Amino acid sequence: MTEQSAPLRTDPPHTDPSRTDPSRTDPLPIDPSGSDIHAEGARLRARGPVAQAELPGGVTAWVVTDDALARSLLTDDRVSKDAYLHWPAWENGEGELARSWPLASWVAERSMINAYGGDHRRLRKLVAKAFTARRTAALRPTVQTLVADLLDDIAATTPGHPVDIRGDFAYPLAIRVICELLGIPHDMRADLFRVVADMFRTSATLEEVQATGEELHGLMTALIAHKRRTPGDDLVSALIAARDDEESAGLDEVELVDMVLLMIGAGHETTVNLLDQAIHSLLTHPEQLRLIENGDASWDDAIDEALRHEAPIANLPMRFAVEDIEAGQVTIAKGDALIISYSAIGRDPAVHGADADAFDISRPTRQDHISFGYGVHRCVGAPLARLEASLALPMLFARFPGISLAVTTDRLQPLESFVSNGHRTLPVLLKQA
Ligand code: HEM
Repeated sequence: MTEQSAPLRTDPPHTDPSRTDPSRTDPLPIDPSGSDIHAEGARLRARGPVAQAELPGGVTAWVVTDDALARSLLTDDRVSKDAYLHWPAWENGEGELARSWPLASWVAERSMINAYGGDHRRLRKLVAKAFTARRTAALRPTVQTLVADLLDDIAATTPGHPVDIRGDFAYPLAIRVICELLGIPHDMRADLFRVVADMFRTSATLEEVQATGEELHGLMTALIAHKRRTPGDDLVSALIAARDDEESAGLDEVELVDMVLLMIGAGHETTVNLLDQAIHSLLTHPEQLRLIENGDASWDDAIDEALRHEAPIANLPMRFAVEDIEAGQVTIAKGDALIISYSAIGRDPAVHGADADAFDISRPTRQDHISFGYGVHRCVGAPLARLEASLALPMLFARFPGISLAVTTDRLQPLESFVSNGHRTLPVLLKQA
């Protein structure tokens, strides 16, 4: 198979057959609708620390479900996220995969999250200068006000009527916090909210998706032009000003737009999932909530356990082997694709014990998760996500001590995704009727 003629279906990797695990010739099909990501993770784990899976569109990839192996691969510079450089099947974005593969956008994106080596180091250094701990800490009073305002809004619901705590609380909170972080002017927000909501509409046609993408791009270009004219104390202004050293040109126009889009894309649905899953788990495990009320555990414990137990990013497409990599019983061949399954890793019994599937906020290993990533691409927004959760959860449960799920868990539907781990809606009753 030449790079030019790669078919849509990527070949299973070619390695020494004596070391071959049966899973390589029989890849486990991944359910694109994410109907039960934990059962799927368990099936993959049963095949070994890393096993072959078939992704939507017939693409084959290794999925890593083992914590120790994931940490080792995530800090190995023979693992790249740049499909243009290291995934022959991608054909430089000019082949069949780019045209018709349902997951193409995950690898086509040329922002920092997919950059490799020196390119990534340069972008990351500039972001680190702009997205500082001080900037996150300074958002605390704003986040507190946003939470209080949203709690007032939902408190106005007719008694006995359910509230979608994901759609009406977690989502607006996360997107408003991103707007505050980036310094998006109020008159631009309605357009931004509409376009971002459109991006996540899975029923959209290809033309609609393209039109939405162009509109979002246009909005970001206008935002950057506005911040160049009138800089403020916000992340976009800081990114415009960030320089490696006195001679450095900093981020160019395309990099700036991509970086702002990355912050919006990476920063809001992930946080919504964390809040959604934490609220759901606490409502279905009242004895755990009581541990916090009694002072036997903290909100931070609950946040870490929610991150571990229901990783907000379940599986992250994609990484690629720059060279052959020996991984236990198998060789991940140069050019093979890899997915880190954060949801399965959070439940690795080798780290968390035989009861890894249980939600237990006093578990000694609750902090030993990598749900914010690990290595060079670890999440830059983790402190902000933690800040949001550490205010939103206690304020919600203090304001509505009688809050309960409005439907039983078996009636909740997961998001239609094997990447994003949350519920489509999370209906609650704020007081027992
Ligand atoms: C609970 C919330 C969040 C979770 C679980 C989360 C998770 C992650 C994970 C797993 C990665 C690593 C991806 C990889 O494997 O390569 C990552 C990277 C990233 N996250 Fe987050 N994230 C969250 C919130 C945020 C927020 C609030 C922001 C920004 C405001 C953000 C911005 C980013 C960026 C820019 C990267 C790319 C870093 C790089 O490539 O160097 N994230 N996040």
